[in-house]
Amino acid sequence: MTQQVSQSGLKQQVGRAALDYVEAGQIIGVGTGSTVNCFIDALATIKARVRGAVSSSEASTARLKALGIPVFDCAEIDALSVYIDGADEIDPHGCMIKGGGAALTREKIVAAHAARFICIADESKRVEVLGRFPLPVEVIPMAARYVARRFAAGVCGTRGDAILRLRDGKPLITDNGQHILDVRGLHIADPLTFEREVSQWPGVVTVGVFALQKAAVCLLGTQGGVRTLSF
Ligand code: 5RP
Repeated sequence: MTQQVSQSGLKQQVGRAALDYVEAGQIIGVGTGSTVNCFIDALATIKARVRGAVSSSEASTARLKALGIPVFDCAEIDALSVYIDGADEIDPHGCMIKGGGAALTREKIVAAHAARFICIADESKRVEVLGRFPLPVEVIPMAARYVARRFAAGVCGTRGDAILRLRDGKPLITDNGQHILDVRGLHIADPLTFEREVSQWPGVVTVGVFALQKAAVCLLGTQGGVRTLSF
């Protein structure tokens, strides 16, 4: 009888597999989350081969530095060859929902610097249509109720129920000093149009749909091993 690999085991597998996309002498774009933590740990084993990393969150920066990997300021970098990050959902075209870890804005910025987005995810993240995972939207606090009303009214043929994300009973404050709405009940059939539309609403800092910066490759951790999906 073969033993099931746990979700954390699958995350470790894809974290290690992502090392194949790390080119010697390069600065690597690094995302945020438990899957990326596995990648950072793997990266530490070959740290002498890379120049360092650009990080998408204070949490990843702290982990990279603790493991002796130099962290560069994104504002000092013109371009990155790869950005390696997890996802909350990924569809058959490589479009994703991200922001479960509240780092979506910096993730989108660092991803925009990279020639290729390499998504690392366990198989539970694979969906046919985005929206089962509540969509994170970073907002300027004074716009939160307005943005929630826009989702309730409907966008791109779907509507959702937006809830302010709390931590310890208070609104969660992002690394950028803003709030997060989590929007439930959406069915995002056209992620590109949806991302373009919601990004224009006053007060939206970043919507957690990554269609403009979709994955080029997804390393998907499955019970049969790591599958490489190219988009
Ligand atoms: C953080 C993210 C993460 O990539 C996403 O939440 C997946 O996290 P995990 O690897 O812990 O499942 O977008 O903002």
